[in-house]
Amino acid sequence: MHCMNKYFTGKLGQYEQIQTEDGSQSMINPYFSEGLHSIAGAKTETLFQYWEGCQMEAQFLSRSSISLLEVGFGMGTGLLATLEQRQKLQAHVGSPLKLNYLSFELDDLLVEHSLNNYFKNIFEKVELITTEQYSYYSLRAPNFEGTILLGNGREVLPSFLKQTSHPPFTAIYQDAFSPRRNPSLWTTQWFDTLREFSSSDVILSTYSSSFSIRKSMLLSGFSVMSAKGYGRKKFSTRAYLTGESDPEILSLLENDKLEALYDCQLNGKI
Ligand SMILES: C[S@@+](CC[C@H](N)C(=O)[O-])C[C@H]1O[C@@H](n2cnc3c(N)ncnc32)[C@H](O)[C@@H]1O
Repeated sequence: MHCMNKYFTGKLGQYEQIQTEDGSQSMINPYFSEGLHSIAGAKTETLFQYWEGCQMEAQFLSRSSISLLEVGFGMGTGLLATLEQRQKLQAHVGSPLKLNYLSFELDDLLVEHSLNNYFKNIFEKVELITTEQYSYYSLRAPNFEGTILLGNGREVLPSFLKQTSHPPFTAIYQDAFSPRRNPSLWTTQWFDTLREFSSSDVILSTYSSSFSIRKSMLLSGFSVMSAKGYGRKKFSTRAYLTGESDPEILSLLENDKLEALYDCQLNGKI
């Protein structure tokens, strides 16, 4: 039997590695004091919330290439599950399905650990590239190009996107820690950045159903729909740049006192 050390020390401190209820691995982040995934199942949550939430199968079948942004690389569960599902789909349709993947992560040691431990024999080439502006991992596999920017996504993501001709996002896995602990990735200004670099038919999926973040999304020009939640969560959220928001959600938000989140309220929080 393969036994993992219970703890892993990254840049943000000592992570506790845990097994979730579907048997898949997750971790508790020491800096944010939160689990990277639902305790009900890291892998099944990822498949439900992101693969299905962003309608990835339909995207692969209808587009010549997908541009996926994952907000917070963490231990790479989102990427791994997506590559596994794509492989199954590819075997079924019998033709190559292209994926362009972009993510970012504060903890570069966590990325290194994850690439070494969870992605064995998946990539043809893994390179750590450092330029004057940023460092990133460049990942290559057949019909796959991946980039993981190292550092604070609020800075490195817009800077990278302004300097490259990255394809507009068609899918966004919005998987930051909770708005309370990790507010900088839920503000109106953050969603403005996502909108700026997204395709008009992008699908954003997130586990959060917070009224504040839905208000921030609306202010940034996304339309908002409620969806079923995973595990103990009743609801989750989908956001789009076309179509109307669910009128029921709009009326609930209008009658609610919680404010949208703004950068000016961060007080130095990440
Ligand atoms: C919930 S976890 C993501 C889990 C990941 N999607 C997976 O499936 O393994 C959120 C991740 O975002 C990272 N993070 C939070 N704020 C960040 C920021 N401002 N810039 C870069 N990474 C950030 C955290 O370090 C953490 O690893």
